[in-house]
Amino acid sequence: MPRAENDIDPVEALMGSMRDFCDPRGANLMGRVEQFYRWQDLRRRCGLWPYSKSTEEAPLAVCTAKDDTGASFRGLNFASQDYLGLSSDPEIKEVAKSVIEEYGVHSAGSSALAGNTKYSLKLEETISQFLHLGHTVLYPTGWAAGYGVIKALVGPADHVVMDGLAHACLQEGAGSATKNVHRHGHLQIEDVESQLRRIRTRDRENAILVVTEGLFSMDSDTPDLAALQETCHELDATLLVDVAHDLGAIGGSGRGSIGIQNMLGKIDIVMGSFSKTFASNGGFVSCSSPAVKQYLKLYGCSATFSNALSPVQAATVTTAFEIVQSDKGHELRWRMMQRVHQLRNALRDAGLEVLGEPSPIVPVVIGDEALARRVSRRLPELGVVANLVEYPAVAKGNARFRFQVMPTHTSEHVRDLVARFKSAVDAARSECVPHRECSRSEQGHTSSFHQGVPT
Ligand SMILES: Cc1ncc(COP(=O)(O)O)c(C=O)c1O
Repeated sequence: MPRAENDIDPVEALMGSMRDFCDPRGANLMGRVEQFYRWQDLRRRCGLWPYSKSTEEAPLAVCTAKDDTGASFRGLNFASQDYLGLSSDPEIKEVAKSVIEEYGVHSAGSSALAGNTKYSLKLEETISQFLHLGHTVLYPTGWAAGYGVIKALVGPADHVVMDGLAHACLQEGAGSATKNVHRHGHLQIEDVESQLRRIRTRDRENAILVVTEGLFSMDSDTPDLAALQETCHELDATLLVDVAHDLGAIGGSGRGSIGIQNMLGKIDIVMGSFSKTFASNGGFVSCSSPAVKQYLKLYGCSATFSNALSPVQAATVTTAFEIVQSDKGHELRWRMMQRVHQLRNALRDAGLEVLGEPSPIVPVVIGDEALARRVSRRLPELGVVANLVEYPAVAKGNARFRFQVMPTHTSEHVRDLVARFKSAVDAARSECVPHRECSRSEQGHTSSFHQGVPT
């Protein structure tokens, strides 16, 4: 890994966050992002920039990757969202090859015009049946689905009540649809209820959309969907659940938290992504209303004015849904969950803090950002591909690693991961001078490097 001169970490590379640069000011539109780049590049040169890695091969349990400087390393891959390993499944690859032969690689149009294919129509049908909701709209990405559904349905006078930890696509969709965005405490149904009551006492004219997720990916936890849906109906609000991380990956039938909580066909609007379990880019929105489906197709900016999923994507995802529902899907989920339980137990035995409930996401808290960056720097040389998540993606002082487990991970992979990770944590702790560096990053933006930068 590239290191700074004398192997000393400039303090600035251990401090600050992306939040410091998210609102650059000045008349020079391009020049004003230079300050961010200097900070990022300093981190990169110190080996403290763990983002924008690439893989040199399929995201298998062990793979070769490159960091953002182009340095190559090989290791245990706990950083891929291919939760059932379907992106390399032979059946899926065969389907993809034959559809490319038949159709080429492009939809060549928006779904509002002539971009639908027999494969996208079949996929819509497949998802509707899987979720017991009659109508499905496809989007080019999950992000486009989350953003687009809110932007299309919510007007400027309406309200969105959303979990404070909801995904960026939902936050952005809400923010661009209305000024009336009310964030509630994470998973706190009583807070949702009191916010809905407060809104309804002064506004009975406009609509309210309540937004949550089936499995929160930074914490691996889940709301009580039945209670949330009941509260919404009682107080004249509509519920939207983003099932990007849980659908296909958890629950006996692969129907995620909705299946586990017996809410199949009972949630007002379900939105999801194919990019985790379903082996492709793409997203969807399902509901029981044909009117909402047609409205989303024609007023949903990110579907209407964007080319539709390619036929190969649609066919791939349809096959992934078939696998998810089959005995093979059941077996893959079972194998993955075995490794999840093993990993969570082993991390705890190693004295580390693991968050949430068992799911393919295993979040391990480090806390201090400077310490977490130092842990992350050691992982490539130890042969580990893993993702660090830090503020503002999670709360300040709550940096964590988000391990993602696949059924192809073996028991030995898990044992090795924990041993290597623990050694990285111990080594990083011993190189940290607490009051000089590691604790300073928690205090906020004290470095002169950040003076004048809006936070
Ligand atoms: C909860 C959630 N919703 C939506 C998305 C966006 O999905 P996609 O990667 O398909 O754009 C993601 C993924 O990154 C996600 O985690």
